[in-house]
Amino acid sequence: MSLEQLLAVIPSGDADEELARQINFEQLPAHIAVIMDGNGRWAALRHRPRVEGHRAGTESVRETVETAARLGIDVLTLYAFSIENWKRPAAEVSTLMVLLKRYLRSELSTLLRNDIRFRVIGRMEELSTEIQDELRLAIDRTEHNPGMQFNIALNYGGRAEIVDAARRAIQSGMSPEDLDEQRFASFLYTAGQPDPDLLIRTSGEMRVSNYLLWQIAYAEIYVTETLWPDFRRRHLLEAVLAYQKRERRYGGISAAPAAIGAE
Ligand code: IPE
Ligand code: IPE
Ligand code: MG
Repeated sequence: MSLEQLLAVIPSGDADEELARQINFEQLPAHIAVIMDGNGRWAALRHRPRVEGHRAGTESVRETVETAARLGIDVLTLYAFSIENWKRPAAEVSTLMVLLKRYLRSELSTLLRNDIRFRVIGRMEELSTEIQDELRLAIDRTEHNPGMQFNIALNYGGRAEIVDAARRAIQSGMSPEDLDEQRFASFLYTAGQPDPDLLIRTSGEMRVSNYLLWQIAYAEIYVTETLWPDFRRRHLLEAVLAYQKRERRYGGISAAPAAIGAE
């Protein structure tokens, strides 16, 4: 959207206003992908059970989604539950699902108000029917919204996605000679969407944890020490500002003036 849209949700005189004014709206990442990490550590620092961190993290989701939509980001993808996260204690997994349900119920109006289109990437069919129904409702209600595409990665694995895409390519009857990168990408969960330009990971871990493996080929990676439940509008704006200072090369050479000593 625009600076005006963003300033509309920032109380005047707030420090975020200064950050918002520094953003170059001509150079926004089309797609921002986030690995929301550090909920357990946030809770541990407070001597609270891990699920308290997940609960607090839903407020960060709310603020991130609305800020990204108002900034004018085309696609936002949040990693909420990986295929590997089933290894966690059953009680933690079930709390995560309950929180997801609550989030969808309470935030559907925010999604509608901000013209956001909600989608799920991952093996949704393996989730409980109750959760699937809740997700389906949000997907259907927001389907025709013209604004930001908000993908939530649920029961998601990057390798599983690539395997699923390969299966679909084979099932489509495409001959091996016709398969190329562009056609293969059309079988991924993110078909038709731009690849992430910016990948944010909170809580300082330097790994991709099976996230969007195909799509992040040339993403700029931004890791912040901030734990996910502490992540606010300001942190998203800081990440975008850092992204705007990066020089993307895609394997080519620098567009900047030749360095000292260059031939
Ligand atoms: C991220 O926080 C949330 C999910 C993976 C669902 P964690 O639960 O991984 O928190 P840490 O990494 O243990 O601090
Ligand atoms: C990645 O975080 C998955 C999500 C954010 C949903 P994890 O906490 O599961 O990743 P690892 O185990 O530290 O790699
Ligand atoms: Mg973690």
